[in-house]
Amino acid sequence: MITKPKGCIDLNGLEAKKWKYVSKVIDSLMEKYNYNYIRTPIFESSEVFHRGVGETTDIVSKETYDFIDRGGRKMTLRPEGTAGVVRSFVENKMYGDPNQPVKLYYNGTMYRYERPQAGRDRELTQFGVEVLGSDDPLIDSEVISIPVNLFKLLGLNEVKVKINTLGDKESRNMYRDALIKYFKPHLKDLCEDCNSRFEKNPMRILDCKVDKDSDILKNAPKTIDYLNEDSKERFNKVKEYLSELEIDYEIDEKLVRGLDYYNHTVFEVEASVAGFGSNNVLAGGGRYNGLVELLDGPSTPGMGFALGMGRLIMALELEKIKLPIDDEVEVFVMYVSDTEKKYAASLVQMLRMYGFKVETEYTGRGLKGQFKQADRLNAKYLIILNDEDLSHDEIKIKDNKTKEENLVGIDYIMYYLDEMLSKEDDCCCDDDCDCGVDCHCHDDIEF
Ligand code: HAM
Repeated sequence: MITKPKGCIDLNGLEAKKWKYVSKVIDSLMEKYNYNYIRTPIFESSEVFHRGVGETTDIVSKETYDFIDRGGRKMTLRPEGTAGVVRSFVENKMYGDPNQPVKLYYNGTMYRYERPQAGRDRELTQFGVEVLGSDDPLIDSEVISIPVNLFKLLGLNEVKVKINTLGDKESRNMYRDALIKYFKPHLKDLCEDCNSRFEKNPMRILDCKVDKDSDILKNAPKTIDYLNEDSKERFNKVKEYLSELEIDYEIDEKLVRGLDYYNHTVFEVEASVAGFGSNNVLAGGGRYNGLVELLDGPSTPGMGFALGMGRLIMALELEKIKLPIDDEVEVFVMYVSDTEKKYAASLVQMLRMYGFKVETEYTGRGLKGQFKQADRLNAKYLIILNDEDLSHDEIKIKDNKTKEENLVGIDYIMYYLDEMLSKEDDCCCDDDCDCGVDCHCHDDIEF
């Protein structure tokens, strides 16, 4: 038997319904925030990530899926979404759009060659946002509010927001010098990777997975002590806006994030529910004011975050949150004879096009088996076709809960089902309103 690659998942059944539900909530939330959907390629020229995310990050130095295409070009499966979105922003000259800032979101698969474990996959799905063209701290707080509000909408309670700042370029340089001074005498006690990180990018030592619990890392200098006045002032503004939005947060002075492009605000949202294990960061992001320039665009500030869909679903499961997943069909159409079956085919299509969720029989079950199948599918109404009834232009409809049966004239079937399924209960419509309520008042299908 051929099996799926290590660290990948087959999404199906109830799990797939949960992902779809969460994705719908994301789409609707993003519409309210007025962010536009963007889809960039799953693979890009390797340079996009090597330059964008940083050569010395674990993601690029150890985890990318790199390949040479048949034309001899160096390609990489995207390990994250930000660098590709920024490449697209530059290539499509979105910086020239008068409608600034450009607010984008995505929800797609990323690839990292990691050691698979709970919450750590090789193929992962991220929902993320990127805002390009505004350095306003209000944007920092808005971006942080997105995962927080998404979790609230889904009913997740046990989450913790951690924020920090890396400061501007000057502050980062002062911090870098402090790290070099601090780590130099400890190099012999750090792992081989940390020794090479020391040469190229000492900040990356702070997110080393090997040395992460050592006292050397625990006692390392903190970013906050190396901020210049502008950076402090900016961080204060972000905190003020977060308080206005009533977002509880902790300051985590050790939070630096594992990607090179960040400056100023960085943040993570952790799941604090018992049983999550160590890969409990649901969402992470920050400001990246130099990245557009690094990828050949004009100087443009950026801020974003991404969350792991798999980890989010895991948190929902651990908090025992029952999502309102629709696992009912509204109508199950049953038949026995060939003529009834032909009638069923067109009736099912008509009902579906009108807007009902409809199933029928496809495997040759007799009536008894069809009743059982309708129950398995939680069908609310059964249409039991019968040649005799059809010859009088009538159809038998049974309420599968009360077991009440009625013969309904063929021409009235839609009205009948509409009424019985209370489709119009919430409807405020008169003939030409556009309230958007999911009713059938404005449907214009002839039957
Ligand atoms: P990241 O921290 O690398 O940031 O990933 C964001 C989230 O993706 C993590 O918090 C986690 O939930 C999920 N994730 C990462 N790796 C895995 C994995 N191997 N398996 C399962 N889930 C995973 C970024 O990717 C940045 N691009 C975020 C960002 C956007 N910063 C600014 N804009």
